[in-house]
Amino acid sequence: MKPIQVGLLGAGTVGSGTFKVLLRNQEEIKRRAGRGIEITMVADLDAARAREVAGEGVKVVADAREVIANPDIDIVIELIGGYGIARQLVLEAIAAGKHVVTANKALLAVHGTEIFAAAHAKGVMVAFEAAVAGGIPIIKALREGLTANSIQWLAGIINGTTNFILSEMRDKGLDFATVLKEAQRLGYAEADPTFDIEGVDAGHKVTLMSAIAFGIPVQFDKAHIEGITKLAAQDIKYAEQLGYRIKLLGITKRTAQGIELRVHPSLVPSKRLLANVEGAMNAVVVHGDAVGTTLYYGKGAGSEPTASAVIADLVDITRLHTADAAHRVPHLAFHPDAMSDLKVLPMAEVVTSYYLRLRVADQAGVLAKVTGLLATAGISIDAVLQREADEVGGEGSTQTDLIILTHDAREGTVNDVLAELQALPTVLQPIVRIRKEELS
Ligand code: HSE
Repeated sequence: MKPIQVGLLGAGTVGSGTFKVLLRNQEEIKRRAGRGIEITMVADLDAARAREVAGEGVKVVADAREVIANPDIDIVIELIGGYGIARQLVLEAIAAGKHVVTANKALLAVHGTEIFAAAHAKGVMVAFEAAVAGGIPIIKALREGLTANSIQWLAGIINGTTNFILSEMRDKGLDFATVLKEAQRLGYAEADPTFDIEGVDAGHKVTLMSAIAFGIPVQFDKAHIEGITKLAAQDIKYAEQLGYRIKLLGITKRTAQGIELRVHPSLVPSKRLLANVEGAMNAVVVHGDAVGTTLYYGKGAGSEPTASAVIADLVDITRLHTADAAHRVPHLAFHPDAMSDLKVLPMAEVVTSYYLRLRVADQAGVLAKVTGLLATAGISIDAVLQREADEVGGEGSTQTDLIILTHDAREGTVNDVLAELQALPTVLQPIVRIRKEELS
């Protein structure tokens, strides 16, 4: 049978890896897919780069619309990124009856509802394994492997840049700004790292996983997002002394009240596997009612790891494109007419536990006052650590750090009590609050 023909939009790092892996493993891929898969056309504004990536016999064009207009192309791979022109091109490719493979988490997390509806109406597939956690087949696992389960929660380290920075901060005791500069020098962080360090990239990915896990529409605008820019080396050290590591987690949970959807730094018990995922690696823990807890680990970015996911989608589409559209795996795991309207909870309604650090005056009654206010608010304390004043502020210091771990509490209640604590004259600096996940 004639190979299925693929057009590639964007000949960057992942595009180059896709060419390499397709070529290197072409025989095995063909035996799996049932027919050959060939990229026959590439569009990139940088013609020289595209030419170098594509090799002999591949048509290189500057205008992506030439690829979409080519009737011989069955599948379009979108590796341009962003929500701008990429959205337009993906919608045009769908309208032209092409299947689409994309690594674009931002596009799907924000415009997924529109894009999946257009694909459904046209009877084409939009595949996005590469959009979440690079080479880890987490979309496949959630959408198919765990399909028997009522998924209860998932939590993931889904941004390699921030995990690298946090690992370095912990290992070397350095502050955020110093490690960020080093990460940029080594190429682990982009020149503009905003999306990574502010948690936006992880927010896009957890939004997609949440939709698939619970059968809800993609709702990035409802996700609570905090990055790692305000984390102090001091808190990483205190957390360690209490038996925890700090990780940037993407978390989504099913509760009786609705769905939690959030990204923020979290204390994780050091003994958990997730706490020991170091450097730029990614990992996702998924808890299903039947299977229990499962863990997926691997490279979340990079040329060939991401190409591995792109090609898996090409193989899936090659196998399924002649199947009746109604018998394919639905984009978001649940059939479009069977989606849930469970609401995404505002952060104030989320229930979790907390690490609090208060810089306080080292004098009689301060601890009693602080714990008294927590008790009045119904917040139960799990552990307290108080440093010697000399250790915190130098010899003769009259200040110290008071670190409190709480049991589960409602975020809105915690916000109220933190405002009261902050107003105490003996609380000398802004209180540090980091959420804590036991993941048990
Ligand atoms: N910038 C991402 C990361 C990879 O650092 O994990 C692509 O989403």
